[in-house]
Amino acid sequence: MSHDFPNLTVVNHPLVQHKLSLMREKDTSTKSFRQLLHEISQLLAYEVTRNLELTTTKIETPICEMDAPTIAGKKLALISILRAGNGLLDGVLELIPSARVGFVGLYRDEETLQPVKYYYKVPDSLEDRLVIAVDPMLATGNSSAAAIDMLKESGATNIRFLCLLAAPEGVKRMQEAHPDVQIVTAALDSHLNELGYIVPGLGDAGDRMFGTK
Ligand code: URA
Repeated sequence: MSHDFPNLTVVNHPLVQHKLSLMREKDTSTKSFRQLLHEISQLLAYEVTRNLELTTTKIETPICEMDAPTIAGKKLALISILRAGNGLLDGVLELIPSARVGFVGLYRDEETLQPVKYYYKVPDSLEDRLVIAVDPMLATGNSSAAAIDMLKESGATNIRFLCLLAAPEGVKRMQEAHPDVQIVTAALDSHLNELGYIVPGLGDAGDRMFGTK
């Protein structure tokens, strides 16, 4: 898929696209939705970690010694943007089990419409870590941009953003606020509707994964 966003990578892989289509279908059960999100999160994790720096470590195979490629000292932090971020977190964590984990909780003030922090707990030394923030839906981008602001205030300088679906409005907002943050997503959808939902989208990701309304 071609687009004009230099900060965006769309993972246009048949497995990702097939699983995403199943998730979009309105009659997909909560159980299947959650399972599919878990599976896609691991395929997206593959892309978001693609250019991690490698070093070599001397090992001995049953046959001989070799300098084997291993991930360089870079420490990782995964940050889940609550609550829907947790649906992406577990799958990514399975692939990167030694990563530290943080949580950012934001709600939208109904009067000012600005994101307000209600929970914030992140690993120490964010300045030394590759930080991967996860949130399935990049819609207006307001809460994502605010979460990235907070992570930068905590010292993070190397941040990537992993989502399932992105709207052009949200990608643009993130590009303006945080041009240094690379976004990885399974699809760039058409637009936001008047209620702020991504179109065609999949509805409310949190409600669909937790079975709430
Ligand atoms: N958040 C969601 O869960 N879905 C949307 O479509 C937009 C924001």
